[in-house]
Amino acid sequence: MKSAKGKKIGIIGIGNIGTSILRGLLATVDDADARFLINDLRRESLDAFAGEPRVEICESNEELAKKAEIVILAVKPKDVRMVLEPIAPLMTDKLLISVAAGVSTAELERYLGEGKRVIRVMPNIGARVGESVSVLCRGRNAVADDEELADEIFSAIGSVYHMNESDMDVITGLSGSGIAFFAEVIDAMADAGVYEGLPRGSALTIAARTALGAARMILAGDDPATIKAMTASPGGTTIRGLYAMESRAVRAAMMDAVIEATRRSREMNRR
Ligand SMILES: NC(=O)c1ccc[n+]([C@@H]2O[C@H](COP(=O)([O-])OP(=O)(O)OC[C@H]3O[C@@H](n4cnc5c(N)ncnc54)[C@H](OP(=O)(O)O)[C@@H]3O)[C@@H](O)[C@H]2O)c1
Repeated sequence: MKSAKGKKIGIIGIGNIGTSILRGLLATVDDADARFLINDLRRESLDAFAGEPRVEICESNEELAKKAEIVILAVKPKDVRMVLEPIAPLMTDKLLISVAAGVSTAELERYLGEGKRVIRVMPNIGARVGESVSVLCRGRNAVADDEELADEIFSAIGSVYHMNESDMDVITGLSGSGIAFFAEVIDAMADAGVYEGLPRGSALTIAARTALGAARMILAGDDPATIKAMTASPGGTTIRGLYAMESRAVRAAMMDAVIEATRRSREMNRR
């Protein structure tokens, strides 16, 4: 990582996402001079990093904002305002990167005050295994270098895409929440394996690996329809299963899941 070299990166909120970002950064930033400053209301989350040579545990968000050059905000959306307003005076010339779902760059800028540099990112929990899909956009005052820096930071936990802020709600539905929809589908397929007599552990692993295979083929350029065509022989097992999916409107249910999650993100944005 080039531009993060020697930087002081703060993370407020060491929960699911904050922890994954920190672990990803510790694993990928090989620079001994880089410093990671962390704070959270939960002492036990911070204590998990006690003794990490490059991690400094701060006693308050104010201390963190004073010391850091970049502040990553990873608290729940309802806590964003409460965190940002007290540190706003300390954020001059610093970059804020927020991962809070449904909190717009305009709202973040409002809490921080005139001229503050803000990047908004929608990662997903695949971050825990270095497979986050992170989509980012920049606020009115952030510059191209800020976007590049955010790209580098989030590359430490998976893949990064740059989009317009108007796309953030659908991204929240598709990848932020969407990873849970895939987990549900994999779990249901594993249940079917158990129903038919497989041990649960094997059924779950085989279902998950099958999903991975489909995902990798699509990413390698195979169209989903091609995968179907290559699998469904006339009168065979796959077409019978596809017929069962079609009669239960599985495609419509999956579309609805993403559309509803997108709607909810829009509602949250209207707060
Ligand atoms: N999890 C996901 O899949 C996902 C995906 C995309 C985006 N996001 C976004 O990422 C953000 C974090 O989500 P998460 O799942 O990581 O949440 P989380 O596990 O609840 O972590 C948030 C942490 O922030 C702490 N916190 C709350 N107020 C604070 C304050 N004033 N100062 C310092 N720390 C404070 C919380 O402590 P308490 O629990 O004591 O309040 C908690 O430990 C959310 O805005 C969410 O929208 C999450």
